[in-house]
Amino acid sequence: MVFNLFPRSKWLRDTQDLAAQTRQSGPARIFLTGATGFVGGAIAAALADTGNFKEMLFLVRARSAAEGAQRVRQSIARFTQPGAPPPEVSEQQVIVADLSDADAFADARLDAVSHVIHSAAITSFADRPAIWTVNVDATMRLAERFSRVAGLRRFVYVGAAMACGVARGPLVTETLHLPLERAHLVPYTESKARAENQLRERFPELPLVALRPSIIVGHSALGCKPSASIFWLLKVVSQLNRFVCPPSAYLDIVPVDYCASTIVALTLKPTLAFPVYHISAGQDGSATIGELLQAFRQTEASGQGQPYQRVTEAALKQMVQSFGAVAQEAIDTRMLHKALTLYGRFSRLNYIFDQRRILSEGMPPAPSFLDYLVRCDHSARGLTLKAQMACDFK
Ligand SMILES: NC(=O)c1ccc[n+]([C@@H]2O[C@H](COP(=O)([O-])OP(=O)(O)OC[C@H]3O[C@@H](n4cnc5c(N)ncnc54)[C@H](OP(=O)(O)O)[C@@H]3O)[C@@H](O)[C@H]2O)c1
Repeated sequence: MVFNLFPRSKWLRDTQDLAAQTRQSGPARIFLTGATGFVGGAIAAALADTGNFKEMLFLVRARSAAEGAQRVRQSIARFTQPGAPPPEVSEQQVIVADLSDADAFADARLDAVSHVIHSAAITSFADRPAIWTVNVDATMRLAERFSRVAGLRRFVYVGAAMACGVARGPLVTETLHLPLERAHLVPYTESKARAENQLRERFPELPLVALRPSIIVGHSALGCKPSASIFWLLKVVSQLNRFVCPPSAYLDIVPVDYCASTIVALTLKPTLAFPVYHISAGQDGSATIGELLQAFRQTEASGQGQPYQRVTEAALKQMVQSFGAVAQEAIDTRMLHKALTLYGRFSRLNYIFDQRRILSEGMPPAPSFLDYLVRCDHSARGLTLKAQMACDFK
């Protein structure tokens, strides 16, 4: 039986068209970094039923190729329906390396790669020195390695829409150069901006395209089964019914499967009109905080309740302590306070990331978060808040 999962969009039908187009794009040898992560796992899963999958190479941190293959298999399995056969990943497809290793890209198998998808990064909002060595320095070494690969057809850098910095809204378009010092709320977005700028400046001959996802939450069909990243925070905001932004503030959210299928399609599309694309819900698919809270209230079947209240950042600490005191489990209130403060600052930016470029490439529009929020909520119900928070505090 086929369910109409997304009554508000043509997403399902368009995605099937996209999968067919991808299959027609000819043979490719794709090298993927970050396959054990949220986005990289979804990219590998999107490619798993294509003819190109067996030729793929994965850079993975592991003690052996066997362990690396097992890590990739487990990562892909998060994105498959229960009962689906496990994906076949062989040891020959694995390059065991840490991006920060000086010789991480020495493997001769990389000489035969036609497409790179560089998704690995340190995504922590904390101020860690490794953010610079992994997100910037290692990305440059990767680009340098592939600038010497004759048959390279595309180098996809998975960027971040939030790397645009502050004071850009409400509608953010894809500028080529990203701002650096004093323009960022966290070092992570600055590292993404720095890496993308340097790729373009230092490797002008690289067949580079930067794909910048907005905020990725859940999976449109599997909800939070692959990861509860950021979902738990939205749920806490709905339970507090108070936050630092007005109810009219927009959040531009996309599901991970939409993000992955768009990355795959743009990677394999023979020609692209632009060097940079947002992968976003954009003007039609973004929802306001007010709309999100209304949708959460419906999942609780709790009636209307008190109206939402906008509060100051200073009030968050007391709110978190009260929340922790009545919670049914022990909560790390320090971490929760930190997360609410930082995400509050991002939410106050009130950004919508222009999605007209991906639409102009024939990509379908993203489903609205409101269309699959219930699925996220149901799939997260068996998980403690601590387990959900662990998806973002690794
Ligand atoms: N999630 C979002 O909302 C979002 C939004 C916009 C853009 N993005 C971008 O999407 C990309 C993927 O993000 P994600 O959410 O999938 O992050 P993630 O779940 O934290 O995954 C990060 C991946 O990078 C790998 N990695 C980190 N450090 C490494 C190292 N030193 N050597 C080798 N591999 C390393 C990790 O490997 P291990 O498993 O070994 O740790 C993992 O596979 C990033 O470039 C991020 O900037 C994400």
